[in-house]
Amino acid sequence: MNMNDIIIKKRDGGTLTQAEIRWFIKGYTEGDIPDYQAAAFLMAVYFQKMDKTETFELTNAMRYSGDTIDLSGIRGIKVDKHSTGGVGDKTTLIVAPLAAACGVPIAKMSGRGLGFTGGTVDKLESIPGFRTSMEPEAFLRQVNEIGISVIGQTAHITPADKKLYALRDVTGTVENLSLIASSIMSKKLAAGSDAIVLDVKCGHGAFMENRQDAEKLGEIMCEIGRAAGRRTVAVITDMNQPLGHAVGNSLEVIEAIETLKGKGPADITALSMKLAGIMIYLGGRVKTAAEGEIMARQALESGAGLAKLESFISRQGGDAGVVTDYSLFPQAALTREILADKNGFVHAVDARAIGAASQHTGAGRATKEEQVDLSAGIVVHKKVGDKVSKGESLASVYTGSRSRLTNAEKEIRGAFTLSDEKPEVPELVKEVLGL
Ligand code: URA
Repeated sequence: MNMNDIIIKKRDGGTLTQAEIRWFIKGYTEGDIPDYQAAAFLMAVYFQKMDKTETFELTNAMRYSGDTIDLSGIRGIKVDKHSTGGVGDKTTLIVAPLAAACGVPIAKMSGRGLGFTGGTVDKLESIPGFRTSMEPEAFLRQVNEIGISVIGQTAHITPADKKLYALRDVTGTVENLSLIASSIMSKKLAAGSDAIVLDVKCGHGAFMENRQDAEKLGEIMCEIGRAAGRRTVAVITDMNQPLGHAVGNSLEVIEAIETLKGKGPADITALSMKLAGIMIYLGGRVKTAAEGEIMARQALESGAGLAKLESFISRQGGDAGVVTDYSLFPQAALTREILADKNGFVHAVDARAIGAASQHTGAGRATKEEQVDLSAGIVVHKKVGDKVSKGESLASVYTGSRSRLTNAEKEIRGAFTLSDEKPEVPELVKEVLGL
């Protein structure tokens, strides 16, 4: 086989065979195919698209490009959860302990983020002492003993995706349905859980800006999951404004703790109940997702979810004192309030601009090598539909230097649109697919 022929075939709208896709993935993973040919291939896929069979084949080729995790040593139905990425999305930190408190084993591998904020692993590392790497035996033992473990994805899982995702990130080829679906699902399938709940974000702060595309992405990921024998549900949710108030690593952990104390923002609480409810249902603890939601709420109200978070933190070496004393988190050197310059209602809080501002504070990384500032970020005080008076704080910025503060402030001011009329608040959960 010849890479140039494969690129030309896709460039001209052809359908690739299983053998061609497997050959490309193997060759690229092993370093036999150079980045410039892989980049040309990705751009051809971006414009010509892949059909369903090609997308399935690409997923499988990437899934088996490295190690796969065997979770059969863990008792019960293991349920994984994944978000396609949003601004202020800290739901894993809430739903994982809630579902675990309800008897659903959570053996989760998470990533570090590129872009707006860190990923779940970075957020967890803002807890002093918290360890996100562990030997496989210890990982399985912890889930059997306390019902939950979340660790960083090892380098040996889906190495093909690791290389390709990094290349897509710098070649304008991220936003393609087949490439996103195969990237996410290859990792989820390799990670070994029996069922998967996907939070597919839709809106200006997400890869999929419109609902139709988000639904298509959700549908294809559900099909890939089911074809691999995993029960898979996709929830389509709004990402036009940030989720909750906090954007940034330690700031998001604090908001997740507040939510588990029953004092979280309404949107993040509602979405967490929905996702945890589906996880509890897929985990076989109840007969319907609605019953799962009731069970999740009980675990929230009884404090069982918070207690599970505390034992999870302690077990992974973290200081569980953070649950009651937020001063134990890294503290930002500088803070500033961004004040409203007129009266009105918040018409929009542009999630993408808040995400960019968060990156300016140092909370996100632009390249894999960059360190994130775990104390940095933004707390958005006013959300769509809220009334604002001139001089009231729209947002607080937390960062480490004056230049970062100035850049973030400019971006945050541009993110807010105020109007005289109270606007409609966008629906948070738009649809559930695959239940
Ligand atoms: N998240 C992933 O893991 N891969 C993508 O392609 C997009 C989001």
